[in-house]
Amino acid sequence: MTSRQFTAMVARESDDGIALAAETVDEGFLPDGEVTIRVEYSSVNYKDALAVTPRGGVVRRYPIVPGIDIAGVVSASSAPDVAVGDRVVAHGHDIGTARHGGYAQYARVPADQVMVLESMSTREAAGVGTAGFTAAMSVDALVAAGASPADGPVLVTGASGGVGSVSVDILAGLGFEVVASSGKPDAVDLLTDLGAASVIGRLPEDPDATIRPLGTQRWASAVDCVGGRTLAYVLSTTRYGGTVAASGLTGGAALPTTVMPFILRGVTLAGIDSVQAPTHRRRALWKRIEGDLRPAHLDRLIGEITLDDLPEHLDRILAGESVGRGVVRI
Ligand SMILES: NC(=O)c1ccc[n+]([C@@H]2O[C@H](COP(=O)([O-])OP(=O)(O)OC[C@H]3O[C@@H](n4cnc5c(N)ncnc54)[C@H](OP(=O)(O)O)[C@@H]3O)[C@@H](O)[C@H]2O)c1
Repeated sequence: MTSRQFTAMVARESDDGIALAAETVDEGFLPDGEVTIRVEYSSVNYKDALAVTPRGGVVRRYPIVPGIDIAGVVSASSAPDVAVGDRVVAHGHDIGTARHGGYAQYARVPADQVMVLESMSTREAAGVGTAGFTAAMSVDALVAAGASPADGPVLVTGASGGVGSVSVDILAGLGFEVVASSGKPDAVDLLTDLGAASVIGRLPEDPDATIRPLGTQRWASAVDCVGGRTLAYVLSTTRYGGTVAASGLTGGAALPTTVMPFILRGVTLAGIDSVQAPTHRRRALWKRIEGDLRPAHLDRLIGEITLDDLPEHLDRILAGESVGRGVVRI
């Protein structure tokens, strides 16, 4: 083991809260694992903001290097299927929550958490990252349930954020008529450029309205990363037989709904979890993200920042103000 020193953004907890600061560490700081990665890019996800928020509920122990996405080049490997020099991406499991993550020049992970990239750059892979992988899982869930462009519009909520914007991009690329729901008037041009057929405000349109068990049927299926009253409204307005892929809770963890959409309209609520997705599923989906599910407008979606810009961007994503995918150049 060398004693190579490198820079890491370390979150430490004290009575005053959680402080994120650059530190010089050596390889002994890294956890066990078969694959050491020279990190080129990480990204900014909602979960990364929670990791540096007191009582954010995602980090099991501090200190931790946050950054749930790692994209870089393998610098050491004892795994037969991962070679030094491979371009790789790793995310999910306990990366950035209980194991040091991507906001550092080096990271080390178990081999089964590593995806070797075939055609994407590490910058593009970080641009996809956890949010984009979750978007791909969501779209895949709709298609696996039988959704097709001929069925009619597909709704995407939280459309300007990470999961939402990549979902819009992938769905439009597959030929779906996408209705993008966003609270940001400034994001209309971006969402239209990604291929949204129409952009509407957040749902329900009247935030104080009572959500009826069954509302007017508006969308054939939906990708929701907002949860809360938004998801309840989406369920009540999804057409007969439609599927709603639910992955997030930016609008709240409670789900104030009834069984009516399920038992009277045959609506399916598909739960999406990227964190514990098994290795074979993860690798198969990454191949598709580099293939038929490749977001066509990643360059338009990626906003590149440095480690110095991180605190400001983590605040913005927590406030729901982030647009697209924040990619961190390490
Ligand atoms: N299940 C999984 O495996 C998985 C994986 C990744 C992420 N997630 C979850 O998915 C959610 C989105 O993650 P992300 O990284 O895409 O975050 P993000 O970039 O912040 O996107 C979330 C979007 O939700 C909308 N939003 C924010 N606050 C809202 C509110 N109070 N009410 C309604 N809409 C609101 C905003 O979009 P508009 O302004 O356009 O409306 C925001 O951009 C998070 O809850 C995250 O934890 C889950």
